[in-house]
Amino acid sequence: MREFFRSLLRRVAVTCCPRLICRRSPVRWRLLRGWLVSGKRNVRIGAGCVVSGSVEFAEGVTLEDYVRLIGSPTIRLGRDVYINSFCMILGDIEVGDHAMISQFVNIWGRSHRFARKDEPIWVQHGPGGQGYKTAPIRIGPATWIGPHVTVLRGVTIGEGAVVGANAVVTKDVPPFAVAMGAPARVRGFRGVTSPDGELRYDSDAEGNRT
Ligand SMILES: CC(C)(COP(=O)(O)OP(=O)(O)OC[C@H]1O[C@@H](n2cnc3c(N)ncnc32)[C@H](O)[C@@H]1OP(=O)(O)O)[C@@H](O)C(=O)NCCC(=O)NCCS
Repeated sequence: MREFFRSLLRRVAVTCCPRLICRRSPVRWRLLRGWLVSGKRNVRIGAGCVVSGSVEFAEGVTLEDYVRLIGSPTIRLGRDVYINSFCMILGDIEVGDHAMISQFVNIWGRSHRFARKDEPIWVQHGPGGQGYKTAPIRIGPATWIGPHVTVLRGVTIGEGAVVGANAVVTKDVPPFAVAMGAPARVRGFRGVTSPDGELRYDSDAEGNRT
């Protein structure tokens, strides 16, 4: 009975003041199916997802199982964003509406400093240490980030861009570009009509779109 009321109270609190609970909480909220839905409609959260820091969900966001989001300071997920299983996202991150992020994607807005060799890297961010390098990452609307992609700090991926499987994105990707490889290079642009009239993506450096 006590447990029931405790759980009811928590649900009410989550619904009424989700930002308060998500934001800067020392607790890592474990999101079990449909639990921390922050009052938005149609947000689907799979099993074993973990959210900490400040994370803002727009309507229609889907997190498949075992997604980890660490807002540092804030992750903003736009409308109908889809994030497949086992993705790790940390930092000052914005993901535009209808973006689709495949499984095992790593979007990490910071990197360890490691120039000093007199101590292990992991203690270098402690007091007096060398800290992290951080920069925001922006993933545009209607993008598709393929599986096992890593997006490094400071990168902007333009609207409608596609990033192929296993790419490491170190530099900005223009809108509607198709980028692949490590480091990711633009291989073409979507929506180009080839001479035989077929709609395809092509290596048109102008990025001509139909
Ligand atoms: C990026 C991608 C969408 C491109 O698809 P595509 O247009 O059908 O690509 P193609 O097979 O025609 O290959 C075109 C060229 O790109 C290369 N290429 C394709 N995918 C690549 C990748 N992920 N990394 C590096 N090069 C790649 C091909 O080798 C080929 O090179 P070539 O012109 O020198 O021969 C696709 O390769 C990809 O990564 N899809 C992910 C699929 C997936 O895992 N889906 C499940 C998760 S949602």
